[in-house]
Amino acid sequence: MPKSNLMAKTGFLPPLMFLLLFATFRATLSSNSPNISTDQSALLALKSHITHDPHNLLPTNWSTSFSVCSWIGVTCGSRHHRVIALDLSSMDLTGTIPSQLGNLSFLALLNICNNSFHGSLPIELTNLHRLRYLNFGNNSFNGEIPSWFGYFAQLQSLYLYMNNFSGVIPSSLGNLSKLEWLYLDYNSFSGEIPSVIGNLTSLAKISLSYNNFSGEIPSIIGNLTSLEWIDISNNNLKGHLPSGIFDNLSKLQLLHLSQNKISGRIPNSISRCSIPSSLGDLSELESLDLSSNKLNGRIPTELNNLGFLEVLNLSHNHLKGPIPQGKQFDTFTNDSYIGNLGLCGLPLSKGCDNDAETPTKLDRDDDDDDDEINWKFSILMGYGCGLVLGLSMAYIVFTTGKPWWFIRIFERVRQRLAER
Ligand SMILES: *[C@@H]1O[C@H](CO)[C@@H](O)[C@H](O)[C@H]1NC(C)=O
Ligand SMILES: *[C@@H]1O[C@H](CO)[C@@H](O)[C@H](O)[C@H]1NC(C)=O
Ligand SMILES: *[C@@H]1O[C@H](CO)[C@@H](O)[C@H](O)[C@H]1NC(C)=O
Ligand SMILES: *[C@@H]1O[C@H](CO)[C@@H](O)[C@H](O)[C@H]1NC(C)=O
Ligand SMILES: *[C@@H]1O[C@H](CO)[C@@H](O)[C@H](O)[C@H]1NC(C)=O
Ligand SMILES: *[C@@H]1O[C@H](CO)[C@@H](O)[C@H](O)[C@H]1NC(C)=O
Ligand SMILES: *[C@@H]1O[C@H](CO)[C@@H](O)[C@H](O)[C@H]1NC(C)=O
Ligand SMILES: *[C@@H]1O[C@H](CO)[C@@H](O)[C@H](O)[C@H]1NC(C)=O
Ligand SMILES: *[C@@H]1O[C@H](CO)[C@@H](O)[C@H](O)[C@H]1NC(C)=O
Ligand SMILES: *[C@@H]1O[C@H](CO)[C@@H](O)[C@H](O)[C@H]1NC(C)=O
Ligand SMILES: *[C@@H]1O[C@H](CO)[C@@H](O)[C@H](O)[C@H]1NC(C)=O
Ligand SMILES: *[C@@H]1O[C@H](CO)[C@@H](O)[C@H](O)[C@H]1NC(C)=O
Repeated sequence: MPKSNLMAKTGFLPPLMFLLLFATFRATLSSNSPNISTDQSALLALKSHITHDPHNLLPTNWSTSFSVCSWIGVTCGSRHHRVIALDLSSMDLTGTIPSQLGNLSFLALLNICNNSFHGSLPIELTNLHRLRYLNFGNNSFNGEIPSWFGYFAQLQSLYLYMNNFSGVIPSSLGNLSKLEWLYLDYNSFSGEIPSVIGNLTSLAKISLSYNNFSGEIPSIIGNLTSLEWIDISNNNLKGHLPSGIFDNLSKLQLLHLSQNKISGRIPNSISRCSIPSSLGDLSELESLDLSSNKLNGRIPTELNNLGFLEVLNLSHNHLKGPIPQGKQFDTFTNDSYIGNLGLCGLPLSKGCDNDAETPTKLDRDDDDDDDEINWKFSILMGYGCGLVLGLSMAYIVFTTGKPWWFIRIFERVRQRLAER
């Protein structure tokens, strides 16, 4: 049987080849690939870069007599038996980051916040391409955000707050398409907020407060529809709030822009920051701080639609006209409005003298005239059911010229309708 003979002679070849291949593979694996020993030497390098450890944690605990995976702050993954998380937060450690830390190639979480690490960040950290969470907050790092941060393709959370970082936000951060939380507050960053921020389509929380960012707020922020928190307070920003910027930010819960030089009006569209969704996960603007800017014009009455607003600070601007009344506006005190000489009505002691005060808003010389008219229409047409009535009111308003008592009556009717 020549055929089966041949089979018997050659049949051993594939398993042999497989064994040979496997052997070479094993050899390459053990000679070249990092393993848990690599992680151990990386952590020992870090230990040797700690210059002050008042609780004596690492000298006693990070002992080579025990597995790296039992060391304090260290977590290993079960699948590859490599270090996947390093959490040394709040240990009062002083030191620097050694380049060897980049050898922890399976690291997904690195948290060293609330310590006194200083110096700059070694480029070898780019090897940590599995990083999802990076927290260097509340340390003493300095220098710029390295452009190689753009290599952290999996990064979801980046905390660099409360350090001594300076320079601009590198455009390479636009590469971090999975980034959800970005905290750069309390540093010395400067320059403009780069428009590549528009690439961060997963962004939910961004804090850039207490820096020296200048220029205008990029309107591209209005495309980041996952945004829940925007805190850009205490910077050097100027210019207007782009009018449509809030049109699609329906998940926004916090907007803090205080202590800048932002001018122009409060966009009516801010009231769209609310979605009573059918799934019941109500998400609405809860905290609005626009204080200490150069905002002018009126407070849009539409803000009354923000039924969950708990914090409102419009103080120290150039706002004028009546403060919206009713609903949650009754809960704000005059602290929310002080430093706006043109505002009137409760809770301020300055009443709106309706015959004298309000017609000045119709002042034809006022360069804000178009917006005033838009404002009136938005009151009148605030609710669909008032549309026809609203249009006829508008007609009366603009033909009689002394119509404000009429508007107030109408406003009360409208509110009753809305409350039903
Ligand atoms: C890790 O790899 C080195 C070679 O790079 C080898 O000598 C060592 O035995 C390996 N350690 C483990 C625990 O596999
Ligand atoms: C190091 O600390 C961890 C966590 O506190 C603990 O489980 C471990 O037993 C400690 N190891 C030594 C050698 O003290
Ligand atoms: C950092 O310290 C602050 C204040 O003591 C504390 O609230 C926070 O939980 C700490 N963060 C971590 C991750 O330990
Ligand atoms: C770890 O990193 C250092 C410096 O980045 C490097 O010299 C070393 O070869 C790396 N590998 C191991 C296994 O420690
Ligand atoms: C910063 O870290 C220190 C410990 O290093 C801690 O005492 C302080 O509360 C932290 N501050 C904040 C705001 O987290
Ligand atoms: C962006 O990430 C890709 C890999 O995900 C990398 O090849 C590229 O160089 C990165 N670009 C920047 C500017 O960091
Ligand atoms: C921050 O850096 C400046 C110099 O750039 C230095 O004078 C200052 O002491 C640093 N502050 C801290 C808290 O490290
Ligand atoms: C931002 O996104 C655009 C379009 O998706 C892309 O062309 C550009 O390279 C991205 N920029 C960065 C810095 O990743
Ligand atoms: C902030 O930036 C402006 C330029 O935009 C500069 O004139 C000013 O000195 C900077 N302030 C600080 C505290 O660095
Ligand atoms: C921002 O959104 C608008 C409208 O959805 C779209 O036309 C525009 O292309 C977007 N811009 C970028 C840079 O994605
Ligand atoms: C908001 O989203 C709608 C629908 O996607 C789009 O047509 C509109 O241009 C967006 N507005 C802004 C200001 O991006
Ligand atoms: C409003 O903001 C100013 C600073 O911009 C602050 O001094 C004041 O305490 C804040 N008031 C309220 C009620 O939050």
